[in-house]
Amino acid sequence: MSSFWSMWIVVLTTISIVLITWLLFSNRKIKSTKANQTTGHVYDGIEEYDNPLPSWWFKMFVASIVFAIGYLIAYPGMGNFPGLLNWTSVGKWENEVQQAEQATESLYQDFMNKDIPALAQDKKAMRLGKRIFANNCAICHGVNAEGSYGFPNLSDHDWLYGGSPEQIRTSITNGRSGSMPAWGSMLGHDGLAAMTDYVVNLSKATTADDNPAAKQFAMMCSACHGADGSGNQMMGAANLRDNIWLYGGDAGRIKQSIAKGRNGQMPAHHDKLSEEKIYLLTAYVYQLSSAENTNKP
Ligand code: HEC
Ligand code: HEC
Repeated sequence: MSSFWSMWIVVLTTISIVLITWLLFSNRKIKSTKANQTTGHVYDGIEEYDNPLPSWWFKMFVASIVFAIGYLIAYPGMGNFPGLLNWTSVGKWENEVQQAEQATESLYQDFMNKDIPALAQDKKAMRLGKRIFANNCAICHGVNAEGSYGFPNLSDHDWLYGGSPEQIRTSITNGRSGSMPAWGSMLGHDGLAAMTDYVVNLSKATTADDNPAAKQFAMMCSACHGADGSGNQMMGAANLRDNIWLYGGDAGRIKQSIAKGRNGQMPAHHDKLSEEKIYLLTAYVYQLSSAENTNKP
């Protein structure tokens, strides 16, 4: 509230105090002036006496006026208008905000002093981490980080970019950009069918080297996915042997991944979240895939 409105309230309050004081004293009399000590009003035979105000009542009234004046001097400020005690509601609020900020700051400082695996054991930290995750990550990765089509499950042991604290932290801080090229035109219709078959079998660990696609896989795919198809975390190239699929594991979906390519984008968060929050989230994600995690869906 601006000081104009504070002033306005001070003036209104002062005027009311003056008026009330005047009203009180102007009506005060020590003794009745009338001879029969009545006002002359009669109603149903009841007469109204013209007695002075009871003195206890009068004194209480004076006391409350004195209190009002004192209060006005001490706390005139509804908003940012300081009184004698230099108190304002705005100042009080600012004070409280500052105290709360200091408390969270020291809380986060405590978190930063622990290493990630230790922080992942801290129940209080993990509760806070779950909230930050729900607000920033759940729209893509799901409330329990279980993932969905195109968004990786963060609570399993299958990692595109690695599940070590440093790797997780890098994923969150800088984001990730998966880049699986499209092979449809290069493989041709039959080649695509054979390659799909090969990849489907890879995940079932039934691949025979005499599959005609085996040579092509070595040429076209192994640079990223590894000679045996078990993936490469440097490039985020998915493990094709574990039967965990980001884009679906039925032949049709796999065929589409190979033919059209895939481009998963994990946005960077260094400009959205503080370093401390990212640190806490790293511990949270790390703990999700650990054996102790009880939130697992
Ligand atoms: C806009 C959607 C989106 C949001 C929001 C998002 N992510 Fe992601 N995230 C992705 C996608 C997509 C990938 C996979 C990228 C790829 O396919 O290469 C990913 C990958 C990751 C990975 C790497 C997973 C692996 O297997 O290596 C981690 C860790 C991760 N996200 C954590 C987070 C956290 C923590 C948050 C919240 C701060 C978050 N993400 C917010 C979409 C999102
Ligand atoms: C330049 C590196 C690169 C090459 C070469 C490459 N891939 Fe990929 N592949 C990737 C990356 C990176 C991803 C993950 C994409 C993402 O996260 O969005 C991927 C994803 C896939 C997927 C989807 C996996 C899933 O979990 O849904 C399949 C299937 C696949 N690749 C098969 C192949 C085959 C078959 C070849 C060879 C014809 C090949 N890739 C060549 C980088 C590559």
